Amino acid sequence: MNRADFGVIGLAVMGQNLALNVEGKAHTVAVYNRTAQRTREFIAQKAGDKSLIPTYSLGDFVNRLARPRKILLMVKAGAPTDAVLDQLFPLLNKGDIVMDGGNSHFNDTERRISEAEKQGILYLGVGISGGEYGALHGPSIMAGGHRKGYEAVKGILERIVAQGPEGPCCAYLGPSSAGHYVKMVHNGIEYAIMETIAEAYDLLKRGLGMRPVEMAEVFGGWNRGELESYLFEITVKILRYQDAETGEPLVERILDTAKQKGTGKWSTQSALDIGTPAPTIAMAVFARLLSSLKSERMQAEDTLPGPDPKFVDVDRDTFIKELFFAVSLTVITAYAQGFRQLQDASKERGYGLEPSEVARVWMAGCIIRAKLLVPIRQAFRERSDLPMLFLLQPFLAFLKEHHVGLRWVIAKAHDHGIPVPIMDSALDFLDGYRTGRLPANLLQAQRDFFGAHTYQRIDREGTFHTQWEES
Ligand code: 6PG
Repeated sequence: MNRADFGVIGLAVMGQNLALNVEGKAHTVAVYNRTAQRTREFIAQKAGDKSLIPTYSLGDFVNRLARPRKILLMVKAGAPTDAVLDQLFPLLNKGDIVMDGGNSHFNDTERRISEAEKQGILYLGVGISGGEYGALHGPSIMAGGHRKGYEAVKGILERIVAQGPEGPCCAYLGPSSAGHYVKMVHNGIEYAIMETIAEAYDLLKRGLGMRPVEMAEVFGGWNRGELESYLFEITVKILRYQDAETGEPLVERILDTAKQKGTGKWSTQSALDIGTPAPTIAMAVFARLLSSLKSERMQAEDTLPGPDPKFVDVDRDTFIKELFFAVSLTVITAYAQGFRQLQDASKERGYGLEPSEVARVWMAGCIIRAKLLVPIRQAFRERSDLPMLFLLQPFLAFLKEHHVGLRWVIAKAHDHGIPVPIMDSALDFLDGYRTGRLPANLLQAQRDFFGAHTYQRIDREGTFHTQWEES
Protein backbone atom coordinates (compact mmCIF):
# COMPACT_ATOMS: atom_id res chain seq x y z
CA MET A 1 0.00 0.00 0.00
CA ASN A 2 1.22 3.45 -0.92
CA ARG A 3 1.85 5.27 2.37
CA ALA A 4 1.92 8.97 2.93
CA ASP A 5 4.83 10.63 4.68
CA PHE A 6 2.69 13.48 5.96
CA GLY A 7 -0.93 13.83 7.06
CA VAL A 8 -3.28 16.77 7.42
CA ILE A 9 -6.45 16.65 9.49
CA GLY A 10 -8.92 19.45 8.86
CA LEU A 11 -9.62 20.63 5.35
CA ALA A 12 -10.81 24.19 5.80
CA VAL A 13 -8.88 26.52 3.54
CA MET A 14 -5.74 26.67 5.71
CA GLY A 15 -5.58 22.88 5.97
CA GLN A 16 -6.17 22.44 2.24
CA ASN A 17 -3.48 24.92 1.31
CA LEU A 18 -0.95 23.50 3.72
CA ALA A 19 -1.64 20.00 2.38
CA LEU A 20 -1.05 21.27 -1.16
CA ASN A 21 2.06 23.13 -0.07
CA VAL A 22 3.58 20.01 1.54
CA GLU A 23 2.61 17.87 -1.44
CA GLY A 24 4.25 20.37 -3.75
CA LYS A 25 7.54 19.76 -1.96
CA ALA A 26 7.61 16.13 -3.13
CA HIS A 27 5.63 14.51 -0.33
CA THR A 28 2.67 12.20 -0.37
CA VAL A 29 0.02 13.66 1.87
CA ALA A 30 -2.91 11.83 3.45
CA VAL A 31 -5.86 14.06 4.23
CA TYR A 32 -8.86 13.66 6.49
CA ASN A 33 -11.79 15.87 7.35
CA ARG A 34 -14.62 15.21 9.81
CA THR A 35 -17.20 15.69 7.08
CA ALA A 36 -16.41 13.40 4.16
CA GLN A 37 -18.06 15.72 1.67
CA ARG A 38 -15.35 18.33 2.11
CA THR A 39 -12.63 15.76 1.53
CA ARG A 40 -14.37 14.61 -1.67
CA GLU A 41 -14.71 18.17 -2.92
CA PHE A 42 -11.10 18.96 -2.11
CA ILE A 43 -9.87 15.91 -3.96
CA ALA A 44 -12.20 16.53 -6.90
CA GLN A 45 -11.21 20.18 -7.24
CA LYS A 46 -7.57 20.22 -6.24
CA ALA A 47 -6.03 16.77 -6.41
CA GLY A 48 -5.49 16.33 -10.18
CA ASP A 49 -2.42 14.14 -10.48
CA LYS A 50 -1.16 15.20 -7.07
CA SER A 51 0.08 12.79 -4.44
CA LEU A 52 -2.85 13.24 -2.12
CA ILE A 53 -4.51 10.31 -0.39
CA PRO A 54 -8.09 10.98 0.72
CA THR A 55 -9.24 9.10 3.79
CA TYR A 56 -12.69 8.92 5.31
CA SER A 57 -12.05 7.68 8.83
CA LEU A 58 -9.36 8.53 11.32
CA GLY A 59 -8.43 4.85 11.45
CA ASP A 60 -7.84 4.77 7.71
CA PHE A 61 -5.96 8.07 7.87
CA VAL A 62 -3.60 6.73 10.52
CA ASN A 63 -3.08 3.47 8.62
CA ARG A 64 -2.10 5.30 5.48
CA LEU A 65 0.76 7.13 7.17
CA ALA A 66 4.34 5.88 7.24
CA ARG A 67 5.84 5.68 10.74
CA PRO A 68 6.73 7.65 12.68
CA ARG A 69 3.59 9.43 11.58
CA LYS A 70 3.78 13.14 10.96
CA ILE A 71 0.38 14.69 11.43
CA LEU A 72 -0.65 18.30 11.13
CA LEU A 73 -3.91 19.25 12.75
CA MET A 74 -5.66 22.25 11.16
CA VAL A 75 -8.84 22.21 13.17
CA LYS A 76 -10.69 25.04 14.91
CA ALA A 77 -9.05 25.86 18.23
CA GLY A 78 -10.73 24.78 21.46
CA ALA A 79 -13.26 21.95 21.77
CA PRO A 80 -13.04 20.82 18.09
CA THR A 81 -9.28 20.26 18.48
CA ASP A 82 -9.84 18.27 21.68
CA ALA A 83 -12.53 16.21 19.99
CA VAL A 84 -10.12 15.16 17.23
CA LEU A 85 -7.26 14.48 19.63
CA ASP A 86 -9.47 12.32 21.85
CA GLN A 87 -10.08 10.05 18.87
CA LEU A 88 -6.63 10.34 17.36
CA PHE A 89 -4.33 9.65 20.31
CA PRO A 90 -5.55 6.08 20.93
CA LEU A 91 -4.79 5.23 17.28
CA LEU A 92 -1.18 6.42 17.37
CA ASN A 93 2.08 4.80 18.35
CA LYS A 94 5.01 5.89 20.43
CA GLY A 95 7.19 8.33 18.51
CA ASP A 96 4.44 9.58 16.21
CA ILE A 97 4.39 13.34 15.82
CA VAL A 98 1.30 15.51 16.14
CA MET A 99 1.46 19.19 15.29
CA ASP A 100 -1.40 21.48 16.20
CA GLY A 101 -1.28 24.29 13.64
CA GLY A 102 -4.34 26.16 14.90
CA ASN A 103 -4.43 29.24 17.08
CA SER A 104 -4.74 27.17 20.25
CA HIS A 105 -4.55 28.75 23.66
CA PHE A 106 -1.18 27.99 25.24
CA ASN A 107 -2.83 26.44 28.30
CA ASP A 108 -4.67 23.97 26.07
CA THR A 109 -1.42 23.13 24.33
CA GLU A 110 0.27 22.39 27.65
CA ARG A 111 -2.57 20.13 28.72
CA ARG A 112 -2.43 18.28 25.40
CA ILE A 113 1.34 17.88 25.63
CA SER A 114 0.88 16.15 29.00
CA GLU A 115 -1.71 13.85 27.47
CA ALA A 116 0.53 13.05 24.51
CA GLU A 117 3.46 12.30 26.80
CA LYS A 118 1.51 9.55 28.53
CA GLN A 119 1.61 7.67 25.23
CA GLY A 120 5.05 8.73 24.07
CA ILE A 121 3.55 10.85 21.30
CA LEU A 122 5.69 13.82 20.31
CA TYR A 123 3.48 16.88 20.36
CA LEU A 124 4.16 20.28 18.88
CA GLY A 125 2.12 23.44 19.24
CA VAL A 126 2.89 25.30 16.05
CA GLY A 127 1.72 28.81 15.37
CA ILE A 128 1.18 29.26 11.65
CA SER A 129 0.85 32.75 10.24
CA GLY A 130 0.30 34.02 6.75
CA GLY A 131 -3.35 33.45 5.99
CA GLU A 132 -4.58 31.46 3.01
CA TYR A 133 -1.89 32.68 0.65
CA GLY A 134 0.88 32.02 3.12
CA ALA A 135 -0.39 28.51 3.83
CA LEU A 136 -0.05 27.67 0.13
CA HIS A 137 3.06 29.60 -0.81
CA GLY A 138 5.05 29.89 2.41
CA PRO A 139 3.85 30.75 5.89
CA SER A 140 5.86 31.55 8.99
CA ILE A 141 5.89 28.72 11.50
CA MET A 142 6.55 29.13 15.22
CA ALA A 143 7.04 25.73 16.80
CA GLY A 144 7.21 24.65 20.39
CA GLY A 145 6.87 21.42 22.33
CA HIS A 146 8.87 18.20 22.07
CA ARG A 147 12.16 19.07 20.44
CA LYS A 148 12.61 15.54 19.14
CA GLY A 149 9.33 15.90 17.29
CA TYR A 150 10.54 19.12 15.72
CA GLU A 151 13.77 17.51 14.56
CA ALA A 152 11.70 14.88 12.74
CA VAL A 153 9.59 17.42 10.83
CA LYS A 154 12.15 20.21 10.52
CA GLY A 155 13.15 19.30 6.97
CA ILE A 156 9.56 19.39 5.73
CA LEU A 157 8.73 22.61 7.57
CA GLU A 158 11.81 24.37 6.28
CA ARG A 159 10.77 23.56 2.73
CA ILE A 160 7.17 24.74 3.04
CA VAL A 161 7.70 28.03 4.87
CA ALA A 162 8.55 31.45 3.46
CA GLN A 163 12.23 31.94 2.78
CA GLY A 164 13.27 35.08 4.60
CA PRO A 165 16.43 37.16 4.30
CA GLU A 166 17.93 35.03 7.05
CA GLY A 167 16.72 31.58 6.20
CA PRO A 168 13.49 29.65 6.31
CA CYS A 169 10.87 31.31 8.51
CA CYS A 170 10.34 28.50 10.95
CA ALA A 171 12.07 27.55 14.14
CA TYR A 172 11.84 25.49 17.25
CA LEU A 173 11.33 28.28 19.75
CA GLY A 174 11.17 26.34 22.98
CA PRO A 175 9.53 23.57 24.97
CA SER A 176 5.92 23.31 26.06
CA SER A 177 3.59 25.94 24.56
CA ALA A 178 6.38 28.30 23.39
CA GLY A 179 5.23 28.17 19.75
CA HIS A 180 1.60 28.97 20.44
CA TYR A 181 2.58 31.64 22.94
CA VAL A 182 4.78 33.37 20.37
CA LYS A 183 2.00 33.15 17.77
CA MET A 184 -0.46 34.65 20.24
CA VAL A 185 1.81 37.64 20.88
CA HIS A 186 2.37 37.90 17.12
CA ASN A 187 -1.38 38.37 16.83
CA GLY A 188 -1.39 40.93 19.65
CA ILE A 189 1.18 42.96 17.73
CA GLU A 190 -0.86 42.40 14.57
CA TYR A 191 -3.95 43.91 16.27
CA ALA A 192 -1.91 46.94 17.41
CA ILE A 193 -0.39 47.62 13.98
CA MET A 194 -3.76 47.23 12.27
CA GLU A 195 -5.33 49.70 14.67
CA THR A 196 -2.46 52.16 14.19
CA ILE A 197 -3.02 52.09 10.44
CA ALA A 198 -6.76 52.52 10.99
CA GLU A 199 -6.15 55.58 13.15
CA ALA A 200 -3.88 57.11 10.51
CA TYR A 201 -6.59 56.46 7.91
CA ASP A 202 -9.16 58.20 10.12
CA LEU A 203 -6.92 61.24 10.61
CA LEU A 204 -6.29 61.52 6.89
CA LYS A 205 -9.95 61.03 6.13
CA ARG A 206 -11.74 63.13 8.71
CA GLY A 207 -8.91 65.49 9.64
CA LEU A 208 -7.51 66.25 6.20
CA GLY A 209 -10.53 65.24 4.14
CA MET A 210 -8.56 62.87 1.93
CA ARG A 211 -10.11 60.23 -0.30
CA PRO A 212 -9.04 56.56 -0.08
CA VAL A 213 -7.14 56.69 -3.39
CA GLU A 214 -5.18 59.68 -2.12
CA MET A 215 -4.46 57.90 1.13
CA ALA A 216 -3.26 54.89 -0.85
CA GLU A 217 -0.54 57.16 -2.24
CA VAL A 218 0.50 58.18 1.28
CA PHE A 219 0.56 54.63 2.66
CA GLY A 220 2.21 53.44 -0.53
CA GLY A 221 5.01 55.95 -0.03
CA TRP A 222 5.50 54.80 3.55
CA ASN A 223 5.50 51.21 2.38
CA ARG A 224 8.42 51.98 0.10
CA GLY A 225 10.39 53.26 3.10
CA GLU A 226 11.06 52.21 6.65
CA LEU A 227 7.48 51.07 7.25
CA GLU A 228 7.62 48.52 4.43
CA SER A 229 5.47 45.65 5.60
CA TYR A 230 2.67 43.32 4.63
CA LEU A 231 0.00 45.21 6.57
CA PHE A 232 0.82 48.51 4.84
CA GLU A 233 1.00 46.74 1.49
CA ILE A 234 -2.50 45.29 1.82
CA THR A 235 -3.86 48.59 3.15
CA VAL A 236 -2.77 50.30 -0.08
CA LYS A 237 -4.58 47.63 -2.09
CA ILE A 238 -7.69 47.91 0.07
CA LEU A 239 -7.82 51.70 -0.25
CA ARG A 240 -7.59 51.44 -4.05
CA TYR A 241 -10.26 48.77 -4.38
CA GLN A 242 -13.45 49.99 -6.06
CA ASP A 243 -16.79 48.41 -5.28
CA ALA A 244 -18.11 47.16 -8.63
CA GLU A 245 -21.73 47.90 -7.69
CA THR A 246 -21.39 51.44 -6.43
CA GLY A 247 -18.17 52.53 -8.09
CA GLU A 248 -17.10 53.79 -4.67
CA PRO A 249 -14.07 52.64 -2.69
CA LEU A 250 -15.27 49.40 -1.12
CA VAL A 251 -13.68 50.24 2.24
CA GLU A 252 -16.20 53.05 2.70
CA ARG A 253 -19.06 50.58 2.34
CA ILE A 254 -17.82 48.22 5.04
CA LEU A 255 -19.51 48.27 8.44
CA ASP A 256 -17.18 49.81 11.03
CA THR A 257 -17.44 47.00 13.57
CA ALA A 258 -14.27 44.95 14.04
CA LYS A 259 -14.60 41.30 14.95
CA GLN A 260 -12.01 39.14 16.68
CA LYS A 261 -11.37 35.48 17.27
CA GLY A 262 -9.58 35.85 20.60
CA THR A 263 -5.81 35.77 20.22
CA GLY A 264 -5.39 39.53 20.87
CA LYS A 265 -7.50 39.17 23.97
CA TRP A 266 -5.51 36.16 25.16
CA SER A 267 -2.28 38.05 24.58
CA THR A 268 -3.57 40.86 26.79
CA GLN A 269 -4.92 38.49 29.41
CA SER A 270 -1.55 36.81 29.62
CA ALA A 271 0.27 40.16 29.81
CA LEU A 272 -1.93 40.98 32.80
CA ASP A 273 -1.28 37.57 34.36
CA ILE A 274 2.48 37.81 34.11
CA GLY A 275 2.51 41.50 35.00
CA THR A 276 3.90 42.92 31.77
CA PRO A 277 2.75 46.36 30.69
CA ALA A 278 1.46 45.88 27.14
CA PRO A 279 -1.11 48.70 27.02
CA THR A 280 -0.84 49.34 23.29
CA ILE A 281 -1.75 45.77 22.44
CA ALA A 282 -4.52 45.84 25.06
CA MET A 283 -5.84 49.09 23.63
CA ALA A 284 -6.11 47.51 20.20
CA VAL A 285 -8.43 44.90 21.67
CA PHE A 286 -10.51 47.54 23.45
CA ALA A 287 -10.68 49.65 20.29
CA ARG A 288 -12.27 46.67 18.51
CA LEU A 289 -14.71 46.28 21.39
CA LEU A 290 -15.67 49.96 21.24
CA SER A 291 -16.16 49.64 17.49
CA SER A 292 -18.68 46.90 18.11
CA LEU A 293 -21.01 49.32 19.95
CA LYS A 294 -22.22 50.60 16.61
CA SER A 295 -25.79 51.55 17.48
CA GLU A 296 -24.78 53.22 20.74
CA ARG A 297 -22.11 55.19 18.91
CA MET A 298 -24.61 56.30 16.28
CA GLN A 299 -26.89 57.64 18.98
CA ALA A 300 -24.08 59.28 20.95
CA GLU A 301 -22.88 61.03 17.80
CA ASP A 302 -25.93 63.28 18.01
CA THR A 303 -25.79 63.67 21.77
CA LEU A 304 -22.26 63.94 23.12
CA PRO A 305 -20.28 67.13 22.53
CA GLY A 306 -17.02 67.36 20.61
CA PRO A 307 -15.15 69.56 18.15
CA ASP A 308 -15.34 69.47 14.37
CA PRO A 309 -12.99 66.74 13.12
CA LYS A 310 -11.92 68.75 10.08
CA PHE A 311 -8.49 70.29 10.62
CA VAL A 312 -8.12 74.01 10.22
CA ASP A 313 -4.81 75.73 9.58
CA VAL A 314 -2.93 72.44 9.27
CA ASP A 315 -0.59 72.12 6.35
CA ARG A 316 -1.38 68.82 4.66
CA ASP A 317 2.19 67.87 3.76
CA THR A 318 3.51 68.75 7.21
CA PHE A 319 0.80 66.69 8.86
CA ILE A 320 1.46 63.67 6.63
CA LYS A 321 5.18 63.93 7.33
CA GLU A 322 4.68 64.01 11.10
CA LEU A 323 2.02 61.32 10.89
CA PHE A 324 4.60 59.03 9.37
CA PHE A 325 6.77 59.47 12.46
CA ALA A 326 3.80 59.07 14.80
CA VAL A 327 2.77 55.85 13.07
CA SER A 328 6.34 54.54 12.99
CA LEU A 329 6.85 55.18 16.70
CA THR A 330 3.53 53.54 17.54
CA VAL A 331 4.34 50.48 15.44
CA ILE A 332 7.79 50.17 17.05
CA THR A 333 6.14 50.50 20.47
CA ALA A 334 3.82 47.62 19.64
CA TYR A 335 6.81 45.43 18.76
CA ALA A 336 8.65 46.66 21.87
CA GLN A 337 5.77 45.66 24.13
CA GLY A 338 5.27 42.35 22.36
CA PHE A 339 8.93 41.38 22.64
CA ARG A 340 9.00 42.45 26.28
CA GLN A 341 5.99 40.25 26.94
CA LEU A 342 7.75 37.34 25.25
CA GLN A 343 10.84 37.85 27.40
CA ASP A 344 8.79 38.02 30.60
CA ALA A 345 6.68 35.02 29.62
CA SER A 346 9.79 33.09 28.72
CA LYS A 347 11.22 33.65 32.19
CA GLU A 348 7.99 32.76 33.91
CA ARG A 349 7.11 29.78 31.78
CA GLY A 350 10.58 28.44 31.08
CA TYR A 351 10.46 28.77 27.29
CA GLY A 352 14.07 29.86 26.89
CA LEU A 353 12.99 32.11 24.02
CA GLU A 354 15.59 33.81 21.92
CA PRO A 355 14.01 37.13 20.84
CA SER A 356 16.33 37.52 17.85
CA GLU A 357 15.20 34.13 16.58
CA VAL A 358 11.56 35.15 16.95
CA ALA A 359 12.32 38.30 14.94
CA ARG A 360 13.98 36.15 12.27
CA VAL A 361 10.96 33.84 11.97
CA TRP A 362 8.69 36.88 11.60
CA MET A 363 10.77 38.38 8.77
CA ALA A 364 8.74 36.69 6.04
CA GLY A 365 5.52 34.75 5.59
CA CYS A 366 3.63 36.08 8.60
CA ILE A 367 1.11 38.89 8.85
CA ILE A 368 3.44 41.21 10.81
CA ARG A 369 6.41 40.72 8.48
CA ALA A 370 8.13 44.05 8.12
CA LYS A 371 11.40 45.65 7.21
CA LEU A 372 11.56 46.88 10.81
CA LEU A 373 12.24 43.32 11.94
CA VAL A 374 15.76 43.61 10.52
CA PRO A 375 16.90 46.23 13.06
CA ILE A 376 14.76 44.59 15.74
CA ARG A 377 16.56 41.29 15.20
CA GLN A 378 19.88 43.12 15.26
CA ALA A 379 19.01 44.84 18.55
CA PHE A 380 18.20 41.53 20.23
CA ARG A 381 21.31 39.96 18.77
CA GLU A 382 23.32 42.63 20.51
CA ARG A 383 21.40 42.16 23.76
CA SER A 384 18.99 39.26 24.07
CA ASP A 385 17.82 40.59 27.47
CA LEU A 386 17.21 44.09 26.12
CA PRO A 387 14.19 45.17 28.22
CA MET A 388 12.99 47.85 25.87
CA LEU A 389 13.72 48.30 22.16
CA PHE A 390 13.99 52.07 22.38
CA LEU A 391 17.05 51.81 24.62
CA LEU A 392 19.16 50.77 21.64
CA GLN A 393 20.01 52.35 18.30
CA PRO A 394 18.58 53.01 15.78
CA PHE A 395 15.36 53.17 17.81
CA LEU A 396 16.74 55.55 20.42
CA ALA A 397 17.83 58.10 17.83
CA PHE A 398 14.50 57.81 16.01
CA LEU A 399 12.57 58.40 19.24
CA LYS A 400 14.75 61.37 20.15
CA GLU A 401 14.19 62.96 16.81
CA HIS A 402 10.51 62.24 16.36
CA HIS A 403 8.68 61.98 19.67
CA VAL A 404 7.71 65.61 19.15
CA GLY A 405 5.97 64.57 15.93
CA LEU A 406 3.99 61.89 17.76
CA ARG A 407 2.98 64.44 20.41
CA TRP A 408 1.95 66.98 17.77
CA VAL A 409 -0.15 64.50 15.80
CA ILE A 410 -1.91 63.30 18.95
CA ALA A 411 -2.55 66.89 20.05
CA LYS A 412 -4.12 67.66 16.67
CA ALA A 413 -6.26 64.53 16.91
CA HIS A 414 -7.42 65.51 20.40
CA ASP A 415 -8.12 69.11 19.35
CA HIS A 416 -10.44 67.75 16.69
CA GLY A 417 -11.97 64.90 18.64
CA ILE A 418 -10.60 62.12 16.44
CA PRO A 419 -9.84 59.09 18.63
CA VAL A 420 -6.29 57.76 18.47
CA PRO A 421 -6.22 55.30 21.37
CA ILE A 422 -3.28 53.32 20.04
CA MET A 423 -1.06 56.33 19.40
CA ASP A 424 -2.09 57.72 22.79
CA SER A 425 -1.28 54.51 24.58
CA ALA A 426 2.09 54.24 22.84
CA LEU A 427 3.06 57.78 23.83
CA ASP A 428 1.83 57.30 27.40
CA PHE A 429 3.77 54.07 27.63
CA LEU A 430 6.92 55.77 26.39
CA ASP A 431 6.47 58.71 28.74
CA GLY A 432 5.72 56.41 31.65
CA TYR A 433 8.73 54.25 30.89
CA ARG A 434 11.07 57.26 30.89
CA THR A 435 9.64 58.78 34.08
CA GLY A 436 11.91 58.07 37.02
CA ARG A 437 9.31 59.03 39.55
CA LEU A 438 5.72 58.20 38.70
CA PRO A 439 2.78 59.23 40.89
CA ALA A 440 2.41 55.65 42.13
CA ASN A 441 3.57 56.92 45.54
CA LEU A 442 0.14 58.47 45.92
CA LEU A 443 -1.52 55.18 44.95
CA GLN A 444 0.46 53.45 47.64
CA ALA A 445 -0.60 56.04 50.18
CA GLN A 446 -4.25 55.61 49.18
CA ARG A 447 -3.96 51.83 49.42
CA ASP A 448 -2.44 52.16 52.81
CA PHE A 449 -5.09 54.68 53.87
CA PHE A 450 -8.12 52.57 53.13
CA GLY A 451 -6.72 49.08 53.32
CA ALA A 452 -3.61 49.18 55.49
CA HIS A 453 -1.76 47.66 52.52
CA THR A 454 1.55 49.22 53.66
CA TYR A 455 4.14 51.04 51.58
CA GLN A 456 7.90 51.36 51.26
CA ARG A 457 9.83 54.60 51.61
CA ILE A 458 12.49 56.06 49.37
CA ASP A 459 14.60 57.22 52.32
CA ARG A 460 14.76 54.12 54.48
CA GLU A 461 14.42 50.33 54.40
CA GLY A 462 11.36 48.50 55.61
CA THR A 463 7.61 48.29 55.21
CA PHE A 464 5.43 50.99 56.70
CA HIS A 465 1.85 51.62 57.65
CA THR A 466 0.45 54.97 58.72
CA GLN A 467 -2.64 55.78 60.70
CA TRP A 468 -3.63 58.51 58.20
CA GLU A 469 -6.33 60.10 60.36
CA GLU A 470 -7.78 59.84 63.84
CA SER A 471 -10.12 56.88 63.98
C1 6PG B 1 -2.19 35.03 10.97
C2 6PG B 1 -3.43 35.66 11.58
C3 6PG B 1 -4.51 34.70 11.89
C4 6PG B 1 -5.64 35.37 12.67
C5 6PG B 1 -6.80 35.66 11.87
C6 6PG B 1 -7.92 36.45 12.50
O1 6PG B 1 -1.16 35.19 11.60
O2 6PG B 1 -2.29 34.43 9.90
O3 6PG B 1 -3.04 36.26 12.78
O4 6PG B 1 -3.99 33.65 12.60
O5 6PG B 1 -6.05 34.55 13.68
O6 6PG B 1 -6.42 36.33 10.72
O7 6PG B 1 -7.71 37.04 13.69
P1 6PG B 1 -8.85 37.90 14.35
O8 6PG B 1 -10.18 37.36 13.90
O9 6PG B 1 -8.70 37.75 15.83
O10 6PG B 1 -8.66 39.32 13.88
